[in-house]
Formats: sequence, structure tokens, C-alpha cells
Amino acid sequence: MDNKPSNRETLTVTDNVTGKSIDMPLLSGTIGPKVVDIRKLYSELDHFTFDPGYTATGSCESKITYIDGDKGELYYRGYPIEQLADKSDFMESCYILLYGELPTREQKSSFVGAITRHTMVHEQLTRFFSGFRRDAHPMAVMCGVVGALSAFYHDSTDITDPRQRMIASHRLIAKMPTIAAMTYKYSLGQPFIFPKNSLGFAENFLHMTFAVPCEEYKVSPTLAKAMDKIFILHADHEQNASTSTVRLAGSSGANPFACIAAGIASLWGPAHGGANEAVLKMLMEIGHKDRIPEFVKRAKNKDDTFKLMGFGHRVYKNFDPRAKVLREACHEVLEELGVNDPLLELAMELERLALKDDYFIEKKLYPNVDFYSGIILKAMGFPTSMFTVLFAIARTVGWVAQWNEMIEDPNQKIGRPRQLYTGPVRRDYIDIAKRG
Ligand code: SDX
Repeated sequence: MDNKPSNRETLTVTDNVTGKSIDMPLLSGTIGPKVVDIRKLYSELDHFTFDPGYTATGSCESKITYIDGDKGELYYRGYPIEQLADKSDFMESCYILLYGELPTREQKSSFVGAITRHTMVHEQLTRFFSGFRRDAHPMAVMCGVVGALSAFYHDSTDITDPRQRMIASHRLIAKMPTIAAMTYKYSLGQPFIFPKNSLGFAENFLHMTFAVPCEEYKVSPTLAKAMDKIFILHADHEQNASTSTVRLAGSSGANPFACIAAGIASLWGPAHGGANEAVLKMLMEIGHKDRIPEFVKRAKNKDDTFKLMGFGHRVYKNFDPRAKVLREACHEVLEELGVNDPLLELAMELERLALKDDYFIEKKLYPNVDFYSGIILKAMGFPTSMFTVLFAIARTVGWVAQWNEMIEDPNQKIGRPRQLYTGPVRRDYIDIAKRG
């Protein structure tokens, strides 16, 4: 993708020490902020840019997902997330993210067929589980087992071959739910349940997770629909931390299975995908709505590292559109299950108080996707330690779509950021006998 400067718009930077100026091209996308092409800054002015956390840095050109944080908008290939959550399903959303367009009936059926036929894992992969303690955190198991996939699929690790890239992408999307369910079964000491080709993606995952060999297990259509919707909402999200990790790992030419394992590791962090688990832990720590003001006070205290999990977002300075959809799904699932969850009552009261608190209004901190997903997943019977694993199942399609786009990008090269060095200047070694 070669992006031409839009009608020769430029940004002029002048170094007021040397008096030297350079004009840097301003590039326009289809929507969203323009970007300043700084690629000649170092060679012409001998300066780096400085942007810890890349809060104002575009790392790549992409056609996959667009977010407008002020308007609370999220599009997959231009389709608004609300419409996909309402009208589409996860398999179709995977197709849109991977191939860029809505599939025809035949394209969708053949894609779903391909994914379905990749859901089984190599029988020897099951042996990796026995090396873990039963009480290992499921995300630790996922990092290990998904990384181990690269030892099994040498026929789809030539990243220069588009066909092999797509087979590896299909394998990862299809096998993540199987490995996730195996991770959960292993923690219980229950036997692994094989995928069933007659079931849909979400239904198959719930069956592998909650069925036991001794009796028939019927997946509730409401729970399968809610699971599918949660997968749609978590499928991709522009250049977030875990996606950027996958892109950076992939930029060195690493195989796709290793790159996705790196993405899983990054997603595990409580500031990112681990937040849904952290929301439940926080609600359980708060315990009663009378204690909410105490915790809101702590969240506002600069000297206290406590943050309200499930609130705030690097990009959304308005309601996270996914949270809006999940809030509805949350009530539907709890109604269907007849669950009167005190933690949901507590969560609703926390939301009510936080949304009218000046600090949260001024800092534009709204409930994000993790605030509600944790409540739904708990109601569905998942232990909190499995929440981020479910996020990883969904996000795998986003990771592989962005990884493919990075490899196909003629401008892509190995990622290698620079730094502002503030360490010691050159100094000579002193023998230990001469040191003080
Ligand atoms: C995800 O990037 C993605 O797209 C991620 C994700 C995806 O789909 O991939 O959307 C998924 O990771 C959602 C976020 C889940 N994380 C949490 O819910 C954890 C709690 N949230 C915070 O850790 C925080 O909001 C972050 C990490 C999400 C964002 O942090 P930033 O970028 O520092 O937020 P900011 O710059 O907008 O913060 C503005 C101010 C800061 O204070 P000041 O320095 O201005 O004084 O608000 C404060 C922050 O300290 N703040 C909070 C807060 N979040 C930010 N204060 C209290 N509680 C919070 N939750």
C-alpha cells in the first residue's frame, strides 16, 4: 500500500538551534486524523520523535478496523460494530476481518466449513497439558500450548506463501476454542471433549467446555448467542497492545503461531485483556455498595495505584460502543439464567456513581468492554481466570488479520523503535582492586 501525500499537504518543523527546517508530508486516510510522515526526520535533522506508549503514533497503514474515540465509533472493514453484533455472527465477522468484504452465502459456507475442519488438535499436543500444575493460570497454559503449535505445523509457517499464511490463520482461529476448552477441562481434572462438526463455533466451544462424556449436554441457544456476540465484540480493535505485539513479532519473520503466543502474553496484562478478570476481583473486593465511595476515592488518589478496573480507555473518551451492546446482552443473559447476581447490582451502582463523579467526567472515564463482559462470563459459569482466555479466542482473528496485512504491506520492515538515552556517558572500566 503506497500512501501518497494528500495534495502535497506538509508540516514544517524548524530546529531553532540550527535554524534548519524540513517539510514533512501530511498523509490522509479515508477517515480519521491525518498522519505526519516523519521518516526523514532523523536523516535530515538528526532527531528522533518521543512518544512513550505510542499515544500519538501511527505504527502502520491499515484497512481493517477504525475507531473514533470521541464519537464512540468502531467499524470492522467499515461495518459498525452495533450492526455486526445485531445482524451478523462471529464466523461472518471473521470472514469480513480476514477478507475485507461481506461473504456471499457460498463463501460463508465454505469458510465455516474450512474453520470447522481445523478445530481438532494434534493428539500429541494433549501431552503438553500434563506438564502444567492443575492450578496453573489458564493464560499461562495458553501461552505455552499455542506457542507449541509451531512445532506441529511446519507446512504452514512459510510466511511468504499467501496460501500457507491463510491455512495457518484458519488453524489458529479454529483451534483456539479447542485449546481453551482443554485448558479449562485440565484445571478441573475432567477429560477433554472433542469438537463436534455439527455445532456452530460458539456452541461448539461451550459444548467442549461444559459437556462431560457421561451424558448428553445441550447448549442453551441464548448462551451460545451471547457467547457469539461477545466474540464479535472482542474480535479486533485497531493497534492495541496485543495486536501491536503480534505485528512487532511478525515483523521479524517469526512464524504465526509464535506471534499469536506473543499476543496472548500481552493480552494477559490487567491493563489490557486481563481487565475483565480484574473487574470481578475488584467487585468482590468492594463487596458491598456502601464501600463504593471508598474505592472511587482511592481511584482518584494520585498516590494510590488503585484504578477502577473496567473504566477508562486509551482511545475511547466516550462510551465504548462495545460496552453499550454488552450492557444489553448482560441483562438478557441474567434474565435467561434467572441469576440475581449481587455483583451485577454492585456493578450497576458503581457505574451510576462513577458516571456522575466529576473526576470521571473530567477524565472522560467510561465503562469499557471489560466492565460488562466479566459479569456475563461469570453468569455463564466461567471462572474469572478463564475470562481473558475467552478474549484471546475472539481476538485471534484480529491478530491474524493484522498479521497478514503487515506481511502484505510493501512498506513493512522489521519494527525497531529508538529511544531518548539518559544513562551515563562513556566511561572506562575500573579493576575491582582499584574500586572504593
Ligand atoms: C482493553 O487498546 C485497546 O483497544 C484495548 C482494548 C481492546 O479491545 O484491545 O479496548 C481492551 O484493554 C480495554 C481497557 C481495559 N483496562 C481496564 O479497564 C483497566 C483500567 N483502565 C486503566 O488502566 C486505563 O484506563 C487504561 C490503561 C485502559 C488507559 O490508560 P491511559 O491511557 O493512561 O488512560 P488516560 O491517559 O486516558 O488516563 C487519563 C487519566 C490519567 O490520569 P492523569 O495522568 O491525567 O492524572 O485518567 C486516569 C489516568 O491515571 N485513569 C484512571 C483510570 N483510567 C485512567 N483513573 C482511575 N481509574 C481508571 N480506571
